[in-house]
Amino acid sequence: MAEFTLPKNSKIQAGKHFPAKGAKNVRTFKVYRWTPDDGQNPRTDTYEVDLDTCGPMVLDALLKIKNEIDSTLSLRRSCREGICGSCAMNIDGTNTLACTRAIDECSSGTVAIYPLPHMPVVKDLVPDLTHFYAQFASIKPWMRTQSPAPADKERLQSPEDRKKLDGLYECILCACCSTSCPSYWWNGDRYLGPAILLQAYRWIVDSRDEDTGNRLDDLEDPFKLYRCHTIMNCARTCPKGLNPAKAIAEIKKLIVQRRSA
Ligand code: SF4
Ligand code: F3S
Ligand code: FES
Repeated sequence: MAEFTLPKNSKIQAGKHFPAKGAKNVRTFKVYRWTPDDGQNPRTDTYEVDLDTCGPMVLDALLKIKNEIDSTLSLRRSCREGICGSCAMNIDGTNTLACTRAIDECSSGTVAIYPLPHMPVVKDLVPDLTHFYAQFASIKPWMRTQSPAPADKERLQSPEDRKKLDGLYECILCACCSTSCPSYWWNGDRYLGPAILLQAYRWIVDSRDEDTGNRLDDLEDPFKLYRCHTIMNCARTCPKGLNPAKAIAEIKKLIVQRRSA
């Protein structure tokens, strides 16, 4: 499991307690709170949630808190089915998606919920992903071709070549992996991190892309790629079951192979 470290602006104090009066089946959630508006340090507020009137997922509990207990809580979510990646946060010590983590999968007792670790916080559970998205844009994540497109059909791919994208195309860019990686914590300004490197490999290995050489040139850099030290938190934490460490190893292998070609 990815070890939890606090978000960048942390000095956390205990905050308010919201009891669930009269409820019989109660689960307690301790939630990180911080807003840039009041000049206060971060705190954790404690919410008791009546599970008899709540859906089964951690996102259900957070939305119940927001809708019925404390509307000031901020979080991101959209699809509620593990597709958009926007509800990524640190739940019960692990970076994961609130919409696919069941409440009863969390360890017993109070469920601690924090924003993705080591990222600047916009408010409460909302991390600032500006730099992460800029890094994604830097790898030019689209098909780059030199040959003219076929006049009457799409650029085709054999089933075997299409299979090479399995384990890569499923990435939803939730950032759980990158924010679990100690190398990314310390060198995230220049190290691209596991999510972006997996995405880079997704285009390198796509048989229809015709810019592999330039893609590898761009990554052959002591910081962008080689700050991966095979710590493996990324693969352990990915809520989609992907293995960014393997993609990074494949990129390194391709760079070695072309040197000796
Ligand atoms: Fe999220 Fe997994 Fe993609 Fe990383 S590899 S961004 S953890 S889906
Ligand atoms: Fe980090 Fe994963 Fe490499 S946790 S160091 S990107 S193997
Ligand atoms: Fe879309 Fe959770 S709300 S992944």
